[in-house]
Amino acid sequence: MNSFTCAWQKIIEVIGGSEVPEDHRHAENTVEWLVRLRPNANLALLLAALGHDIDRATPDRIRRESFDDYDAFKNAHAERSAALLAEIFSECGVEEAIASEACRLVRLHEVGGTPDADLLCDADSLSYFDVILPLYYQREGYEESLRRCVWGLRRITPGSQQYLTKMRQSAELQKLVTHALRIVEQEVECDTEPASTKTHELSDPYSVFRAEKITQGF
Ligand SMILES: [Fe+2]
Ligand SMILES: [Fe+2]
Repeated sequence: MNSFTCAWQKIIEVIGGSEVPEDHRHAENTVEWLVRLRPNANLALLLAALGHDIDRATPDRIRRESFDDYDAFKNAHAERSAALLAEIFSECGVEEAIASEACRLVRLHEVGGTPDADLLCDADSLSYFDVILPLYYQREGYEESLRRCVWGLRRITPGSQQYLTKMRQSAELQKLVTHALRIVEQEVECDTEPASTKTHELSDPYSVFRAEKITQGF
């Protein structure tokens, strides 16, 4: 077995033991989105996409309730996922350059910041809307899901936003996503243009996201 296959199988094994029901599907679905966004994604990106949330699958996972700040929680989760992956890569003898790049990407997977980290962040975000949101909504309810959707929409790059329109969701989730989109649109308008100089084109870079289009697309 080569080092890549060894690492891939170990990651799947750990994620398969997660108490969070959507974790396994999300890991594979993030890989699917990554390959859709970049068909020739390299090995570091593929391993990072599969393992980015491995922290969440372990009994000692980083807990939301241990942090006042959501971003600090997400950062700690990303750091721990990278540390767990580093151990797997070492056990499997993954080439140092691939291992260190995959860990770097995982550390950045919640925020992006480089072209490849943005790509991983987009794949992760799209997968959230694709396979996590239905279960998250059932578990957490409208308000928390709305907050999480807004947080997710803020981090998707404009080039990847178009894929949201192709997802099919229930009427309830369409309403939720539409609500989140309106919040993000308003934030963008407020942040980018003083009211006196606003134009439709300049103040609405999220136009692809407009609620009508989203509703039609689902
Ligand atoms: Fe994550
Ligand atoms: Fe994720």
